[in-house]
Amino acid sequence: MVQPAQSPEPDRSPGPARSSEPARPSDVPADHVVVLFGATGDLARRKLLPGLFHLARAGLMPRRYRIVGSAPAAEALTDQEFRTHAQQAVAEFGRSRPEGPAWEAFAAGLSFGAADTGAAEPLMAAVREAETALGGTPRRLFHLAVPPVAFTSVIDLLGATGLAADGKVIVEKPFGTDLASARALNAAIHAVFDEARVFRIDHFLGKEAVDNVLALRFANGLFEPLWNRDHISHVQIDVPEHIDIQGRARFFEGTGTFRDMVVTHLFQLLGFIAMEPPVALEAGPLRDEQVKVFHSMRALDPAHVVRGQYGGYRDEQGVDPASDTETFVALRVAIDNWRWSGVPFQLRTGKALAEGRHMVTLGLREPVLRMFPLETRAAAEGRSNELVIDFDDPGSITARFLVKEPGPSMRLADGDMLFNYRTAFSAQNFLEGYEHLLLEAMRGNQSLFTRSDGVERLWEVAAPLLDAPPAVRPYAPGSWGPDGIDGLVAPYRWHLPDRRDATP
Ligand code: BG6
Repeated sequence: MVQPAQSPEPDRSPGPARSSEPARPSDVPADHVVVLFGATGDLARRKLLPGLFHLARAGLMPRRYRIVGSAPAAEALTDQEFRTHAQQAVAEFGRSRPEGPAWEAFAAGLSFGAADTGAAEPLMAAVREAETALGGTPRRLFHLAVPPVAFTSVIDLLGATGLAADGKVIVEKPFGTDLASARALNAAIHAVFDEARVFRIDHFLGKEAVDNVLALRFANGLFEPLWNRDHISHVQIDVPEHIDIQGRARFFEGTGTFRDMVVTHLFQLLGFIAMEPPVALEAGPLRDEQVKVFHSMRALDPAHVVRGQYGGYRDEQGVDPASDTETFVALRVAIDNWRWSGVPFQLRTGKALAEGRHMVTLGLREPVLRMFPLETRAAAEGRSNELVIDFDDPGSITARFLVKEPGPSMRLADGDMLFNYRTAFSAQNFLEGYEHLLLEAMRGNQSLFTRSDGVERLWEVAAPLLDAPPAVRPYAPGSWGPDGIDGLVAPYRWHLPDRRDATP
C-alpha cells in the first residue's frame, strides 16, 4: 500500500540576504486529508498542485497528509495517472523541480477518486483509504476548484454523502455575480458547512505584502498616526495587467473585469488598507474591521466609473462581436467613516494595458504653508509625499518625499526610502498567495479569507453599477486605458511610480 506522505526536511539553502524565518513546528498544520475537486483543471495544474508541493518542500505540510484528487467520472484518472499529472503540473508551473526524495514522498501521498452526483463511491473509498493510511483522526479539507456551475452540486454531494462531516471547505471565486446569487450561494454552502468552516479564497489576500500592510500600520509608530483623512489626501489601488484575456473568452464574457477583479481583489485590498485597528490579530476581529469598511463604503455611483474594452477584444474567439463586456474599470469609491470621509479611493485595473503592476499609493497632504519653490517632477504632477506599496510578489514599500538638492540655493528634489522584500530577506521562505492561503486553511485560520456578510455587502455596494453600467469605451492594447479616466481622479493623477520602486 502507498505510504502516507511524510514532510521532508525543509529546504534551508542559504539565501542572498537576511534570512527570513524558517518553518517552526507551530507553523505546521495538524494531519490532513486534502480533497481537490477539479484536480484535472487549470487552477489545480497552475497553482494548487505546485503550491502544495512547494509547501511540502518548505516543511509546511502536515507531518502526515494525503491529497485525494477528484473530478467527474468522465475525467477520472488512476492514482498513477494523477501522480503523473501532478508531476507535469509541478514541472511546468512549480518553483521546485518534481524530483528526488521530496517529490517521491509527495507523490506517494497522492490518490484519485472520481465523484458525480449520486455516484461518489470512488471518492468516498479514496478518502477512507487515505484516512486509514494516516491513522488517528486527520482533518478533512475540501478544495472546490470547480467552475461555478458545478459548485452547488459538489457542496450538495459533500452533504449527502456525509463526507463534509466536520471538514473545512475552500471556495474559489466568483462568490456570485450579484447580491441575489451571492445570497443563494452562501445559503447553499451554509446548508452543509457552517461559516467557521468556510474559507473563501481571494489570492490577493495571500500576498506577502498584504500581511505587511498590517505590520506596517500596526507595528510602527511611524505610519499609523498618518493613516487618516488629516494626512492622506487620496488613495490609489492600481492593478494594471499586461496580459489580455488569454483565450478565457467563455469565462470573461460572462464576468468582465469588474466582477473578476474589482468586487473581489481590489475591494478586499481596500478593506485592509482602510480598516480600523483590530482589537487583536485574529480572524474574528480582523474580519469584523474589514466588513465594517465595506459597510462604510458608499454605494457605487455609475457616474464615477469608467468601463473600457481593449481594441481587438471583440475579435477574440468566443467573444460576441457586439460584446459590452468590460476589460478595464477605473472608479472612485467613497468611504463614509470618521477616518476616511472626503478621501477618494481611486481604483483601476484592466487587461492588455501598458504594464502589469500591483500598486497601492497613499498620497499625503502638502504641509499647510508652502515655503519652497516646487520645481520637481512630482510637484509638477501635483504630487507631494507618497507612500507606495508594491504588491508584486514579494513586493516593496517606498516613501517618497522632497529633499534639498546639494548646492548653494534652496532647491528641492525628489527623494525616496525604499524597502524591498527581495533584497531585504532571502527568498527561501516566501510563499505565493495560494501557498500562503492553503497553509492558513489547513491551520484553520480564517483571517485572510472573506466572510459571507462581507461578500454580500460588496454586492450591495456594487448594485447601482450593475443595474446601470456606463457604456464601454475603447482603448488601445498597450495603453493605460480609455480617454477620460483622468477626469475621475482630478485634481490628482493616475500615478504609477517608475520601475525602480519595483522588485528587481
Ligand atoms: C484572477 C483573475 O483572479 O487574478 C485573472 O481571474 C487575473 O483575470 C488574476 O489575471 C491576477 O492575479 P495576479 O496575482 O497574477 O495579479
